[in-house]
Amino acid sequence: MLREAVDALNVRPGGTYIDCTAGGGGHSAEILGRLPGGRLIAIDRDPQAVAALQKRFSGSFVTIVNDNFFNIKNILSNLDIDGADGILADLGVSSHQLDTPERGFSYHHDAPLDMRMSMSGRSAADVVNTLPQKELQRIIYAYGEEKYAPSIARGIVREREKEPVMTTGRLADIIGSCVPAAARRGGHPARKTFQALRIEVNGELELLGTAVSDLFGCLKSGGRLGVITFHSLEDRTVKKVFASYCVGCTCPPDFPVCVCGKKPQGFLPFRAKTPGEAEIAENPRSRSAKLRVIEKY
Ligand SMILES: C[S@@+](CC[C@H](N)C(=O)[O-])C[C@H]1O[C@@H](n2cnc3c(N)ncnc32)[C@H](O)[C@@H]1O
Repeated sequence: MLREAVDALNVRPGGTYIDCTAGGGGHSAEILGRLPGGRLIAIDRDPQAVAALQKRFSGSFVTIVNDNFFNIKNILSNLDIDGADGILADLGVSSHQLDTPERGFSYHHDAPLDMRMSMSGRSAADVVNTLPQKELQRIIYAYGEEKYAPSIARGIVREREKEPVMTTGRLADIIGSCVPAAARRGGHPARKTFQALRIEVNGELELLGTAVSDLFGCLKSGGRLGVITFHSLEDRTVKKVFASYCVGCTCPPDFPVCVCGKKPQGFLPFRAKTPGEAEIAENPRSRSAKLRVIEKY
């Protein structure tokens, strides 16, 4: 949804735009191509992505920032920017992260169990080897929507007592042994647990609602915020925050006049968009993508 997402931002020449999750720079390049005389801020928390962005955009008017966009207020204040005309957040992991075995995001390669987008802090191995069983079960159930969470958490704890679980391959094998054979027909048995651990390691969901509110707060009047999500947990959060900015008066219907004085602060220019069949055929990972956009009054 590269072109669609950038189309939805209504990029205006001379404006200020922010790509919160610049990754390989695909969306940033598309924005830049429509932005004569404007300013683009490209953020990513992954130092490897930032190094690639610096190479790709050297000599152009792109400010590249290595940070978590959840800190957007600080990032903009450090850059003396008081508002943006358009902001895009394309959530989740990049193909580079998934396809680089040493980053430890994928159950398709046997590699150190890492999963840290920022390449710092607590790794997936730390989570798997130190959290109590109940907490592991909660994470796998809540962030992976995995119904076999109790059995997987039990299996992890049993196996780590023999020897710490340090690799993606060993973790995938443990998960496989905890899931009934019949359940394996719906895709790789480790998919949901790996998603859950990645979300936990990178703190992707806990403060997402606040971060999306902060992004909306950074828009100028008439500016647009687009968010692309990859699973229903993220999408629900984004949908809820956007809806909260679109409601006006919240007085009970039997009040003769409004006493709350609330006015909508934005509107949704279109319903959520999903990729077409051609895009899914070309890039199967886009299958679960959803784009939501809000415009500020
Ligand atoms: C789906 S990819 C983005 C791909 C990008 N739109 C492109 O065109 O190449 C997600 C990227 O966002 C980064 N990321 C995810 N969450 C982030 C956050 N909270 N703050 C900053 N970067 C984040 C990841 O490191 C990854 O590089």
